[in-house]
Amino acid sequence: MQILRTVAELRTRVRGWKSDGRQVGVVPTMGALHEGHLSLVRAAKRGCDRVIVTIFVNPKQFNNPDDLQKYPRTEDSDAALLAAEGVDVIFAPGPDEVYPEGFATQVAVSGVSEPLEGTMRPGHFEGVATVVAKLFGMTQADRAYFGQKDWQQLQVVKRLVADLNIPIEIVGAETVREHDGLAMSSRNLRLDPLSRAQAPALYRIMTRVAGQLRDGAPVDQTLAQGREDLLQAGFSAVEYLELRAASTLAPIATLDAPARLLAAATIGDVRLIDNIPV
Ligand code: PAJ
Repeated sequence: MQILRTVAELRTRVRGWKSDGRQVGVVPTMGALHEGHLSLVRAAKRGCDRVIVTIFVNPKQFNNPDDLQKYPRTEDSDAALLAAEGVDVIFAPGPDEVYPEGFATQVAVSGVSEPLEGTMRPGHFEGVATVVAKLFGMTQADRAYFGQKDWQQLQVVKRLVADLNIPIEIVGAETVREHDGLAMSSRNLRLDPLSRAQAPALYRIMTRVAGQLRDGAPVDQTLAQGREDLLQAGFSAVEYLELRAASTLAPIATLDAPARLLAAATIGDVRLIDNIPV
């Protein structure tokens, strides 16, 4: 496994693979890898001949400079995990390689990036869409793997690729959870023991709400009860618990098309997000 820092080196490597007829997969990450990320790497290994994992803590997608600075950077242990999975190349550029002097382009996907996380984190999805478009151009991969954990991000990326005719297939992989149902996230490490014990209520309550909605319970009332139950379970704030159309994330009042239940809630100062199909 090689760790590459420049687009030029990466291009040379990928050109060699492609001239041998190899299918190339990419898994974009910001590092601090856990089993959720590794499940994407394994899916890429199964589906492609060569696998690139990108590690880049993208400054453009952080609305808070403090968050960016505090984001865990664990490249050595990440590299060891990826080597064990049989990854071919880690592409870990510095910020100047990705955003050199004079960089002036922004990719904004309207509609799907506006509600939910888009409202809570202004500019976040522009940062994500911009870096993802660049990573696709840099890696020239045939397939890219994203987690359903970040459902809205996955829909934004699908829209981006369709709208800009980027020749890459987007694969969405299921959320990997702890044994108690808590979705894996690097943020879980910041939960104090009490909050960690209470946090699985998010998935538990969402699962119950999704079941009730499927059984025909009234949408607004069931969601309101779910929000109340989250607060009772120890969450200090529920930013949203919403039923949305699965791919456009438009509000829906009835369940006649694929739908998703999405939530963001804070416990012990840590903001958790999750989503499940309804
Ligand atoms: P990051 O948070 O590092 O996540 C990288 C990928 O891992 C994303 O596609 C995310 O959805 C997926 N992932 C995280 N937790 C997961 C879990 N528990 N189960 C399954 N997949 C999981 O998302 C980003 O980085 C960035 O926004 C990025 C796309 C790299 C652009 O900078």
